[in-house]
Amino acid sequence: MSVPTHDAPRAPFTSVSFARLVMVSAVVVAFAGSVVTPAPALAKTPPPKAALDASAVAVPDRYSADTAQQIFAAGGNAVDAAVAIAFTLAVTAPDAGNLGGGGFMTVFMDGKPYFLDYRERAPQQATREMYLDDKGNPVPGMSAVGHRAVAVPGTVDGMWQAQRRFGKLKWKQVLGPALRYATDGFQAEPWLQQRRDAVVKTFAGKTNFDAYFSNLKAGVTYRQPELAQTLARIADDGGREFYEGRTAELIAQQMYGHGLVTKQDLIQYKAVWRQPLTADWNGYRVVTAPPPSSGGVGLIQMLKMKAALKQAFDGVELNSAPYIHLIAQIEDRVFADRQQYMGDPDSFKVPVDKLLDDVYLAQRADEVKPDEVPGATPVKPGLGDAMPEKAQTTHFSVVDKWGNAVSNTYTLNGPFGSGVVVDGGGFLLNDAMDDFVTKPSGASTAGASQPGANSLDTNTIAPGRRPLSSMTPTILLKDDKVSLVIGTPGGSRILTSIFQVMTDLYDFNMTPTDALAALRFHHQLLPRKTIYFEPYHPITGELAEQLQGMGYALEGQSFNGDVQMIRIDGTLPEPAADPRGAGVARVIR
Ligand code: DON
Repeated sequence: MSVPTHDAPRAPFTSVSFARLVMVSAVVVAFAGSVVTPAPALAKTPPPKAALDASAVAVPDRYSADTAQQIFAAGGNAVDAAVAIAFTLAVTAPDAGNLGGGGFMTVFMDGKPYFLDYRERAPQQATREMYLDDKGNPVPGMSAVGHRAVAVPGTVDGMWQAQRRFGKLKWKQVLGPALRYATDGFQAEPWLQQRRDAVVKTFAGKTNFDAYFSNLKAGVTYRQPELAQTLARIADDGGREFYEGRTAELIAQQMYGHGLVTKQDLIQYKAVWRQPLTADWNGYRVVTAPPPSSGGVGLIQMLKMKAALKQAFDGVELNSAPYIHLIAQIEDRVFADRQQYMGDPDSFKVPVDKLLDDVYLAQRADEVKPDEVPGATPVKPGLGDAMPEKAQTTHFSVVDKWGNAVSNTYTLNGPFGSGVVVDGGGFLLNDAMDDFVTKPSGASTAGASQPGANSLDTNTIAPGRRPLSSMTPTILLKDDKVSLVIGTPGGSRILTSIFQVMTDLYDFNMTPTDALAALRFHHQLLPRKTIYFEPYHPITGELAEQLQGMGYALEGQSFNGDVQMIRIDGTLPEPAADPRGAGVARVIR
């Protein structure tokens, strides 16, 4: 799709000069005092009249909330704010925020929905068996830690394309806050140090992680001079610098002899505008992530199956044992389909229409029985084999006062990704290759059934292919206006978390704060009878006994999402950050 420009022509990518530090200081000075100056010369058309009383964000840390505030103060819109938040999190939340990862952005702009796929891609040298040993077994950790785990990153091109297409401010302005945090430093909070401490051993001796992150300590100012230089190059020369300039050289050097990503892979990488997935549900229009995410399909399937089971749910108390039992059966069916049919739509024709067909979903819902014994009946993929042609991520939600919205989830995959930092570039690279099926019927690091572990091989490794994702940045529209912006990290827990929060909001009329604080559980097809619970709201006592009595096994998990959402009911947006995390919900006037 062509990318129309809406403002003054931007500097084309040029080869990079060596005097970066001068430029870094210049941009930093422009942002001193936390004020972003507007770019009056750039706005061709006056902004439309405000539709809302305020803008709002729900973001994973306080620094990115401050960034959004600066961008809105400068006259930026939701996309400007989103891009600035994404770059800021790459500095202040390096466990998940990133330049070296990828993600998805769902946008509602000037009354129309859009979806940007900036998912990582397998390098050209990648092969289907690249993580298997001589006996055909996956080498433990190889797809998750170190150089060979790295896929071609998409974040910078994604941000570049989004901002060029929809942003109002200058690109350089939008990168300003991130650059300031990298140059001047920021104070890490205890949660960030804890996350760092948790991975140090995994990466020790295998990556250069510690050389860069040993100083990341709670309460101590953490500066990232190499990252500042990278951000300055990108700010100066545009997003393609990452793929074609000095930064690309640094990535290729880092990979040389150890990993597979080459300069050619980087040059070839382009984020893709896709048709967002849309569906009518409960008087709303759901706008969500299409393949290569499995999340949008799964979310819509869950919502529609639950609606089709209205009678079965009638009078069933929220999060009671019978409720969890019904939802678990819905989730079995969603994950059976996900495992069989989902993959990169540029490699396979994913049967999205059939999977979302109302008649099909009503039939699938019909299989759900209140008195079913957990695990007793095999749950098969619903379309049969006659296939047609065959914990780290982060989310933020943004609305601006003009009624535009961005729902963005992006990731390095595992916490701090592969643990490999680009020497001289100062940023981490992803381990997204771990989202592929390394061996059909193997187990993924998420402890889930491997998506695509099937005879159709929809998620095996192939050069250029995107690994299947669960990221589900979602927007709900009511009467063509934004009503909810929602998303979360959590791997396969993403879709079940979003589904539960939406159900709490709309079927149980909870406030956004209550919906986020409510109990959440997770279940997927495999392991067949396991209900996962979380420390925030453990399943204990009578509820635990009831579920165990029904035949379920209960298992604690450390994480069940960090949902960031904004509801709009009227003209004042109501942001809410998940109490499980360190997120910030802020109304910005
Ligand atoms: O794309 C995916 O589905 C995974 N790479 C997301 C990983 C994730 O959410 C980890 N977060 N805690």
